[in-house]
Amino acid sequence: MLERFGHGGDLLTAQELYGLEASRYVDFSANMNPLGPPPCVAGLLRSYADAIGRYPDPASRRLLRKLSQVHGIDERCLIPGNGAAELIELTVRLFAPSVTVIAAPSFAEYADAARKAGSRIAAMRLRRENGFALTPELARQSLEKLRAEGVRQGEALWLLGSPNNPTGRLCDPAIVRWLTAQGERVVVDEAFMDFIPEEGRFSVLRDAAADERIVVIRSMTKFYAIPGIRLGYAAAAPETIGRLKALQTPWSVNSLAQQIGEAVLEDEGFRSRTLRWLAEERGRLAEGLKAPGFEVFDGAANYLLFSIPAGSGFTASSLQRRLGAGGVLIRDASRFEELDESFCRVAVRLRRDNERLLEELEAALKSHAEERQRSGRDERKP
Ligand SMILES: Cc1ncc(COP(=O)(O)O)c(C=O)c1O
Repeated sequence: MLERFGHGGDLLTAQELYGLEASRYVDFSANMNPLGPPPCVAGLLRSYADAIGRYPDPASRRLLRKLSQVHGIDERCLIPGNGAAELIELTVRLFAPSVTVIAAPSFAEYADAARKAGSRIAAMRLRRENGFALTPELARQSLEKLRAEGVRQGEALWLLGSPNNPTGRLCDPAIVRWLTAQGERVVVDEAFMDFIPEEGRFSVLRDAAADERIVVIRSMTKFYAIPGIRLGYAAAAPETIGRLKALQTPWSVNSLAQQIGEAVLEDEGFRSRTLRWLAEERGRLAEGLKAPGFEVFDGAANYLLFSIPAGSGFTASSLQRRLGAGGVLIRDASRFEELDESFCRVAVRLRRDNERLLEELEAALKSHAEERQRSGRDERKP
């Protein structure tokens, strides 16, 4: 299974499973921006040799200054981290909730972080018929259920993805604000928010700076395609940031990550090119998937969740194997809670890669249909 270690983008496992050299795969299983990394990254890598013998700035000051300018919030409301993954864990540890409310399906690390912190998990089941959206009704019902179970105001932590992974659905900021108005604490993982053109309408990052009940977590690894260096940040009220810093491992953000983070945030052109590419390619890929009968759950992010039609002869795992053998990697999304074995997730990539994916998928469906016809004919033979 490609998700042997729980995540997509594992090219070494692909090599072990399907036999091709790791570099020969077209990878739709991790949601990376195919336009990246931005050009400045190569230059920084070449000049990094001098910096490697020195400790990183323990306070990531230049990166923080840049982030503060980009988001228009005080530096005291920001903390950089070793990827969003570190900050998810730190935040749950900090709040040490007795219960963590998590939408299902969503990113597996939320439940893992809750478990590591000894928290019980309350699953909020997203409904297929609502396109897996988190509705105000579902949030209200989940809160009522907590209260009925005796969980008092402020004891639980709500850990929500916006856009959510694997659905790509945005969380309406009104739901977050309603929850905090009820006295609840909410962490919003906005790891993919940079991909949303109307980010200002959907992000609650500025709310987090002003409200002690909200923490927003951002990743820089997806949008800037730098997962190997690990970089993310969180926004929260200064007091919460201070407590997160006290929990964080010293020099958690290495100097290369700090330099790259600062430089890529300067690249406005990269940002607009990315949004243009995504606006064209997501719709096109979604239509391409719908044509042979896949049900596509239209999200807002740089990936698509889809379901394989019944009778196609494939499950997510057999389709993943079939495509993997030909050098195309997709995510078996049946491993996300609440999704059955028909669910897959693919990243949106460049046009030629997306077309290759569609061709491989069509070929897989066709070969199964032909096989069925053949065996039908054989059965009819005397
Ligand atoms: C929803 C979500 N949040 C956070 C992360 C972790 O991001 P990072 O690479 O910044 O640790 C991922 C990685 O896949 C993700 O899908």
